[in-house]
Amino acid sequence: MEEQKMTAGDRTVYPNETMPERVRRVKPFLAMEILEKAKQMESKGVSIIHLEVGEPDGDTPYAIKEAVIEAIRDNDTAYTHSLGKPALRREISLYYKNTYGVSIDPSQVVVTSGTSPAMLLAFSALLERGDKMIMPDPYYACYPNFVNFIGAEPLPVRVCEEDGFKLLADDVRKKLDPRVKGVLINSPANPTGTVLDENELRELADLGLYIVSDEVYHGLNYKGRDHSILEFTDRAVVLNGFSKRNIMTGWRLGYLIAPSFMVREMQKLQQNMFICACSFVQDAGIAALRESPEVLAERFSDYDQRRLYLYEALQQIGIAPAKLPDGAFYMLANVKKYTDDSLSLAQRILEETGVAVTPGIDFGPGAEGYIRISYACSMENLKEGIGRLKKFFAALDK
Ligand SMILES: Cc1ncc(COP(=O)(O)O)c(C=O)c1O
Repeated sequence: MEEQKMTAGDRTVYPNETMPERVRRVKPFLAMEILEKAKQMESKGVSIIHLEVGEPDGDTPYAIKEAVIEAIRDNDTAYTHSLGKPALRREISLYYKNTYGVSIDPSQVVVTSGTSPAMLLAFSALLERGDKMIMPDPYYACYPNFVNFIGAEPLPVRVCEEDGFKLLADDVRKKLDPRVKGVLINSPANPTGTVLDENELRELADLGLYIVSDEVYHGLNYKGRDHSILEFTDRAVVLNGFSKRNIMTGWRLGYLIAPSFMVREMQKLQQNMFICACSFVQDAGIAALRESPEVLAERFSDYDQRRLYLYEALQQIGIAPAKLPDGAFYMLANVKKYTDDSLSLAQRILEETGVAVTPGIDFGPGAEGYIRISYACSMENLKEGIGRLKKFFAALDK
């Protein structure tokens, strides 16, 4: 294919020459690339089972859709306050009070177009150039990209399968140096499904560092109730959103909760970069936060059945992780006996079986030799996918 030329004023420039270092360092998000390839195969008639995406199955609940339709009918379509609609910010603070017993002033809440922009605001406000941010490896693929992008340094700490991939306070202590500004936690976690318990969270909070706590998988905890980091410290920025819990991935709505002194700085960034989150989708957020705990429990009881089914199936194939994950909707299947190149293996699995899985390497060197399987799909699809994977690995065993 001919290289595309771009013009800037009277000079002809080529894309590779103009791309700044900080952009070139951003790695592609392989889960999205596999998804795009799988969709392309699907459009040519290939039967694909999607076990790669972190997207809950099912439709966005009726009441949430109705809230948006009503808001649009009311012509609620103008820019909102850059920090979000006051009603939604109040609802979020009420939700944290009712769910975790913590008192958050609505002025500490910043509404964003998804959890991902909230990450950009949080890391930008927290990290100086050269500061280090500790995070567990395996990690959610985008974290180090955000940290690198703003000129800070991700400091991944290898967590191991036998310990359930937990990042504990002792692991963090060993990595401390004066440039470490904070710790990033994600419980329940992507890609491991790991849940940190109350004590483990408290011990991390007691380190006295800033904690950025990505709570987007709260609600998907099969063992007990989730704990927000705000129960243990105020020195924290919470990231959260509606994508997973309320089946709203494409709606692009999230938020962060930050110490008051950071909010003004974040507001300036939001005003410049994003202006505000979508006005009528913010009404959907209010409806989503009002979904009853019973409705949520019912929604996630299906996930638990799939989790148990998947774990047993992976054990039969011989690739189950050492511990049954307690949360989210992912498992990291250990395929080290077959490969140390998870990307090639995932591509082969897709091409030969039509099952889309995410290569572990997307989630850091600590996840190489694994593939991530998402069970946020129907039981029927999960069973079909597992059937195909069983044959694939049985053939490799021969
Ligand atoms: C750990 C984690 N944080 C954040 C996100 C992004 O969520 P959102 O859709 O709210 O931007 C994801 C998406 O998969 C995720 O797994």
